[in-house]
Amino acid sequence: MPLQITKAMKITYLFTLIHLFSVQCSPSPSPSPPHFVGKHSLNNTTPQQYFEVTHPLPTDDITPSCSVSLLNHSFANTYGSPPVTVNYTPPKSKCKWSVAVLEFQAECKGEQYDRIAGVWLDGVELLRTSTAQPTEAGIFWKVRKDVSRYSSVISQSNVKLTVMLENIVNKDFTGVYDVNISLHFYSASSVRVPLSIVSGIHTSSSSRKLVSVKNNEIGGKVNVDRVLKALYPYDKPADSVVPISGTNGVNEGFWFKIDDEHDVQTTKVKIASKTYKAVLELYVSFHGNDEFWYMNPSDAYVETNHLSTGRAHGAYREVLVTIDGELVGAVVPFPVIFTGGINPLFWEPVVSIGAFNLPSYDIDLTPFLGRLLDNKDHKIGIQIADGISFWLVDANLHLWVDHSNVKAQTVSSKVPAMEIERKNEFVLLDGEFEIEGERESEVTSWVSSSAGNLTTKYKEKIKFKNKLKFKDQGTKKELDQTYKRKIKIKTTNEMGQVVENLEVKIKYPLDINTETRPGLDRGTTVMTTQVELERSERVSGGTDWMSLSHKLNCTGMMVVKGSSVLSGLAENHQNYNYKDGLGCYTRKVDVVNGVVVGDDPSSICS
Ligand SMILES: *[C@@H]1O[C@H](CO)[C@@H](O)[C@H](O)[C@H]1NC(C)=O
Ligand SMILES: *[C@@H]1O[C@H](CO)[C@@H](O)[C@H](O)[C@H]1NC(C)=O
Ligand SMILES: *[C@@H]1O[C@H](CO)[C@@H](O)[C@H](O)[C@H]1NC(C)=O
Ligand SMILES: *[C@@H]1O[C@H](CO)[C@@H](O)[C@H](O)[C@H]1NC(C)=O
Ligand SMILES: *[C@@H]1O[C@H](CO)[C@@H](O)[C@H](O)[C@H]1NC(C)=O
Repeated sequence: MPLQITKAMKITYLFTLIHLFSVQCSPSPSPSPPHFVGKHSLNNTTPQQYFEVTHPLPTDDITPSCSVSLLNHSFANTYGSPPVTVNYTPPKSKCKWSVAVLEFQAECKGEQYDRIAGVWLDGVELLRTSTAQPTEAGIFWKVRKDVSRYSSVISQSNVKLTVMLENIVNKDFTGVYDVNISLHFYSASSVRVPLSIVSGIHTSSSSRKLVSVKNNEIGGKVNVDRVLKALYPYDKPADSVVPISGTNGVNEGFWFKIDDEHDVQTTKVKIASKTYKAVLELYVSFHGNDEFWYMNPSDAYVETNHLSTGRAHGAYREVLVTIDGELVGAVVPFPVIFTGGINPLFWEPVVSIGAFNLPSYDIDLTPFLGRLLDNKDHKIGIQIADGISFWLVDANLHLWVDHSNVKAQTVSSKVPAMEIERKNEFVLLDGEFEIEGERESEVTSWVSSSAGNLTTKYKEKIKFKNKLKFKDQGTKKELDQTYKRKIKIKTTNEMGQVVENLEVKIKYPLDINTETRPGLDRGTTVMTTQVELERSERVSGGTDWMSLSHKLNCTGMMVVKGSSVLSGLAENHQNYNYKDGLGCYTRKVDVVNGVVVGDDPSSICS
C-alpha cells in the first residue's frame, strides 16, 4: 500500500523523528506515523479559493476560438483503482487554433490529505499537479497551463485522456476531489502577448507595447510556452511527442514508480530518420520516504540511533537520463513542497512554488541524434540517483521532423557521473551532514538538415550543495541547500558563423529550519518552522533574454498532538519577478494566518 504509507508519513520526516525520539524514553512507540489534519488558519463558512503565485497567461483574458470539456469527475475512494480514462476528440476543423490551454479545476470539502495527480493524453503527460488540503467549508482552485507544445497530440483523434488521482475516503478523511478538465483553443492572431514570448525577433527593450502575434509578422514563430519553459526557445511545437512512460498506464497511470536507485525504467523508441531536433521533457514528483529527500540524514545516522524511519540515504537526488545505458543528462528537481509539507498552515490559501503546476525539465537530446537516426530501437532510461521509495517519473520525447534527409553525428561527448563528496558526522542524535556534488558536461555535435549543417557545442556545469545540521538532541534541524545549473549552447553554420548563442542559468536555493519542544499540555509538541525557497531561471541569447525569480519565505509555529495540528500561526510571503526584453511582471503576495493581506501584481518595470 505504497500510497497510504506516503500519505500517512507525509507530514515530514520530522514527525517521524519526533516520534522516534520519544522512543528513547518510551518503549512502545506508535508504529503508525502521525497524520496531519485538523485545524486550519481560517474558520470560514464559505468555500475559499486557493492559488499558486505565477505568471498570467497571454490567453487569460481572451475568448477562446472553441473549448472542449474533457472530464467532470469526483475522485472519492480511488486508491488502488485504475485511472479515469475518457475518449478524446480534438476540436472541429472550423475551430482555428495554434495555442491550447489546459484548465484543471478542483474543489473539495471536509478533511483530506494532499494528493498527487497526473493528466495524460495518449500517454503523453500534460500536467502534474498536487491537491490542497480542504477545510470543512470547502476550498476550490484552478490551474491554467499552456499546452501548445503538445499540439501534435492534441490534434489527434481516437486517443484517450487519462487522469490519475488516488484518494482515500473513509470516516476520518471525508474529502472528495471534484475535478473538471477542459481544453481551450486560441487562434494565434487573437493572442496578444504582453511579454517577450515571441522568439525569433529582435526587439529593443524600449518597445514595451503589447505585441500582437500574427503568423506573417514573425514568420510563424510563436512560442507562448516560452514563459517559464525557457530552457530553449523552441520555434514551434514538435511534430510528434513520444511518451517514455509505463506500459500499464490504463491500470496504473503512465508514470513509472521508482523505488530505489537500482530501478532503471526504460522505454524502447525508434525515431523517424528525418528527425532534426529531439528534446526529452521530464515530469517528476517525490513521495513516501523521499518526499523531503533534501532533509534525509545518512543511513548510518538512522541505524546507529536505532530509528525505524525509512527517511534516510542522504540528501542528494538526481534524475538521470540514459540512452542505451549511457548517461546523457540529469537534473536535480525543484523542491516542490506539497500542502501537507513542513507546516500545513503555510499553504492556506497560497500554495508553494509549483504545487499546482509542477515544473517539467527539458533535456536536449539533439546532440545525441547521431546515435538515434539509424532506424533501430534505442532504450531511453530514467533512474533516480540515490533514490528511495518512491518517485513518480515519466517523460515526453518531443521530436521535430524535416521534409528532407537528415544526417547527424555526436563528434565528442562527455557527460560524467556527478562527482560527490560527503561528510557525515554525528554523536547520538546531533550531527552534521554535508554533500557537495559537481558535474561538467560537454558535447559537440552536428546536424545536417534543410536548415543547413549546424554544429552545436553544448556545455553544462552543475553544482549541488546540501548542508543538514541536527542540534539539541535532534530537535533542531537546519537545512541549507543550493543547486546551480549553467548551460551554454553555441551553434555555428557551415561558414563558421554563430547562429545561436544561448546561456541558461538556473538556481534553486532552499533553507529550512525547524525546532520542536514539548507543549504545555500533555502529549503536545510545539514546532517552529521556517522555509526559504527560490526558483531562479535566466535565459539569454543575443538580444533576447528573460529572467525569473520566484521567492518564498514562510515562518510559523504549530501545536501538534499526535496526528493533528491543534493551533498555530503562519506567514507566507512570496515575490514573483519576471523580466525580459519587452517588459516585466511582478507580484508580491503576503499571507498572514490564512488571510491574504497583500497581493500586488504589476507590469511596470522598475
Ligand atoms: C468556528 O466557527 C464555528 C461556528 O461559527 C464555531 O462554533 C467554532 O468554535 C469556530 N472555531 C474556531 C476555532 O474558531
Ligand atoms: C461537464 O459539465 C459541464 C457543465 O455541466 C458540461 O457542460 C460538460 O459537457 C461536462 N463535460 C463532460 C465531459 O461531461
Ligand atoms: C464541475 O462541473 C460541474 C457540472 O458538471 C459543476 O457542478 C461543478 O461545480 C464543477 N466543478 C468545478 C471544480 O469547477
Ligand atoms: C557537417 O559539418 C561538420 C563540421 O564541419 C563536418 O565534419 C560534417 O562532415 C558535415 N556533415 C555533412 C553531412 O556535410
Ligand atoms: C524571511 O522572513 C523572516 C521573518 O519574517 C525574516 O526574518 C527573514 O529575514 C526573511 N528572509 C528573507 C530572505 O527575506
